[in-house]
Amino acid sequence: MIDLDNPQTLKKNDRGEMGLRLSELPLQCRTAWQIAQEWSPPAEYREVDSAIILGMGGSAIGGDLLRGLVSDSCPLPIFLLRDYSLPHFAGSRTLVIASSFSGDTEETLFAFQQALQRDCKTLAISTGGRLAQLAEGSAVPLLTFNYPPPPRAATGFSLVLLLGVFYHLGLIPDPSPDLEEGIALLESGISQFREEVPTSQNPAKQLAEKIQGRIPVFWGAEHLHPVARRWKTQANENSKLAAFFEALPEIHHNAVVGLRFPTDLAQKIFVVVLTSNLLHPRNLLRVQVTAEVLAKEKIPYQVIEVLGETRLAEVLWGVLLGDYVSLYLAARNGVDPSEIEVISQIKKRMAEGWR
Ligand code: PA5
Repeated sequence: MIDLDNPQTLKKNDRGEMGLRLSELPLQCRTAWQIAQEWSPPAEYREVDSAIILGMGGSAIGGDLLRGLVSDSCPLPIFLLRDYSLPHFAGSRTLVIASSFSGDTEETLFAFQQALQRDCKTLAISTGGRLAQLAEGSAVPLLTFNYPPPPRAATGFSLVLLLGVFYHLGLIPDPSPDLEEGIALLESGISQFREEVPTSQNPAKQLAEKIQGRIPVFWGAEHLHPVARRWKTQANENSKLAAFFEALPEIHHNAVVGLRFPTDLAQKIFVVVLTSNLLHPRNLLRVQVTAEVLAKEKIPYQVIEVLGETRLAEVLWGVLLGDYVSLYLAARNGVDPSEIEVISQIKKRMAEGWR
């Protein structure tokens, strides 16, 4: 087991330099915003009445985060597609954005090709691969960026490029003031969470110590629900840990009843409830009620109030904290956070299966 207070061994374990990637989140956001600023949409892209974001895993989360941030103000319904086939309604008045870091993810490519055939208003976000080739070959707008893998370490790009696209299409107000606040918070978050800060002063290491050896369950409402999803997927991929996430208020209608069995559940799980003053007041009360239920059932938990004055800043700070927690859980589990051999094997196996 790696000592979290020894930055040298921590870094040695982190062979793919995930810690470095996390510390670059502010830079990613800035670079992505610059790229987005240089882009302007074709005029006909404004004539759409729905949006579908295609993506898988680390490239899909940006879409979830965007939807959580803007769905109550954006005039278009926003759908996420983590699968092969477009919904029936998708057609020439649908904006379809394919997001794939590698550009080679088959589900995303399949749906993107369908979108091209259906004359949707298509757009691609990628570092290259087949997606970039397809976009270029079809004269479809392409937003590219250069960044080292793994894809999940490029959230700054996947979220901020989408924000830029929605802004340039006139679907959301200028997010740059909120982004500036978010970037400043990221910088101060990194100074608190980075490897050199000892556990006694490092909230990310402290939380990792509490979760270590347990199955984490992440709950969040509204814009914090996709943040809970991010915590879960980062615990899976970075820490190689079974983890789950759910949404408030939905958990008050089912999950809260499922805390009694197995009888040793309290020894097995750790619940993290994300909260913010920007939530609907009834959801804020629900966070309190959730804590009461967990305490009554003697389930270990922590309520985390994300920092920020705006939703975007809260989301960025929340993602950063969860990412660092997953980094330290990886160290505790003695695994390289960047390694995802199982995913690579599955991709290879699926590629062999084409007929
Ligand atoms: O984080 C990862 O490596 C994965 O979740 C990938 O994002 C996922 O497999 C999809 O690949 P890509 O992001 O290249 O489309």
